[in-house]
Amino acid sequence: MPLRDMYRPPAAESLVDGVGLFDGQGWIHKGMDINAIRKRFLFPHSERIVTNNAATTQVPVDLLKMHVSLARDYENVHRGQSKASQKMTTMLDDAYNTIAAFLNAPEGKKSIVLYRNTTEAINSVMYSLLTEFRDGDNMVTTMMEHNSNYVPWYAMCKEILPKFGVNVQCRIVNFSRETGELDLEHMARLIDHRTKLVCCSGASNFLGVKNPLKIIREMTRNSGYFQPGGRRGSFLLVDAAQLMPSSPVDLKALDLDFLAFSFHKMLAPFGIGVLYAKASILSSLPPFLYGGDMIAQGQVSPEKVGYNALPWKYSAGTPNILGAIISAQALRLLLDLTLSPKKHVYFATEKPIEYWVVNAAMTRISLYLRILTQHALERLSGVPGIQIYGPKDAAKRTSLVAFNIKGINPMSLAEEMAEYGVEARAGCHCATLAHHYLGLDPPASCRLSFYIYNTIQEVDYAVRVVRRLAARPSRCVVNASLQQDSAVTGYD
Ligand SMILES: Cc1ncc(COP(=O)(O)O)c(C=O)c1O
Repeated sequence: MPLRDMYRPPAAESLVDGVGLFDGQGWIHKGMDINAIRKRFLFPHSERIVTNNAATTQVPVDLLKMHVSLARDYENVHRGQSKASQKMTTMLDDAYNTIAAFLNAPEGKKSIVLYRNTTEAINSVMYSLLTEFRDGDNMVTTMMEHNSNYVPWYAMCKEILPKFGVNVQCRIVNFSRETGELDLEHMARLIDHRTKLVCCSGASNFLGVKNPLKIIREMTRNSGYFQPGGRRGSFLLVDAAQLMPSSPVDLKALDLDFLAFSFHKMLAPFGIGVLYAKASILSSLPPFLYGGDMIAQGQVSPEKVGYNALPWKYSAGTPNILGAIISAQALRLLLDLTLSPKKHVYFATEKPIEYWVVNAAMTRISLYLRILTQHALERLSGVPGIQIYGPKDAAKRTSLVAFNIKGINPMSLAEEMAEYGVEARAGCHCATLAHHYLGLDPPASCRLSFYIYNTIQEVDYAVRVVRRLAARPSRCVVNASLQQDSAVTGYD
């Protein structure tokens, strides 16, 4: 059946009650105007059903235009005396301030470090902490982590530190195979007075589940570990790659030590990831990268090198200046798209960002995504042979749904869905530990994930495609040899 014939709005009564309104033309949610939002993107002009947003979101036209206009007469920062250089320096500073404001970072831009992505941000913490771990310490991570938040710690514990005669255990917290929720009792048993660091995701990119960060913070605070500087308690690092795009993250309230996320999952182009860390920690730790710009003016001699003030101590070499500016503008645009999609209030302005505005916008986003996710969960659960991973209640999860259908290879399923225009992602989503833990063979699942521009109609269409393929599995039968398929280990 042609795509267009299957692409029909659902009946109004099928929509979730009380939280939104379907007006016959489009989907409006408490002031969030999805039709207006979609007009700011190019993809609706093609017949793409963009449902792989947990991997990467689409870039709005306004950001693309801004990127081109900035690239026309740009300059390097911090070095030149030219007007162009001064302008770029100010814009880069503003970008750091915007990011700090969006996170409600207690110490402002001093706590913001920019890297290429979440993975690099987490690796940088590993390298900065490397010399801090003491023989007999341990660190705790979880079975649901993306490889970005497991493999660096595995490498540190099993490959790097043993070469220096330092033994540090890497302990892994289980999750419930039924609900996908983290086993907090297991976590409490694993954390002890030798736990220097606890790492967990804010939301899993496979199970969708959001982790109870306040409870975990309490556990780390009371671990009894003594950090070298005298601080009591274990450090807590949160991989917020899936949490940040879909939820308010208030660092004043959460009091995290480290947090990492990538901008390419929240409307910006590829290339910039954030490490937030408490300024006291950044001041005391050795930097991850050394070189130009991260040194204090003139303080380099054969005897001693002095490092720059925060956050520049962690900004070695020429940064991705345009990437940083555009990424911060993506946050400003996200506020506008959510709160006033027909006009720019924050985007391309210097308007200071107050956290209550961020909170209002991200709460709206999270409610809207919850509607889409609950709808997907309910509709998908009616597909014969389906197994959905993670909590059944959308309130407990972020906006993605991973599943398998009995007897059908998830990679073939995603390929067939692509023929209907539905962009699903199949593989292990780099949540390899979790797929093995659930005994999946091949270790893979098919995933749909939503963002602010997706509609209920698109969710319905995607589910109809899944249902149709599930009933006609001739080309997607499970083939054990596909276990080695490169897609299984693919990036996410
Ligand atoms: C939970 C989680 N952590 C880390 C990453 C890695 O992000 P990046 O590839 O931007 O480093 C992802 C990417 O999907 C993710 O979902």
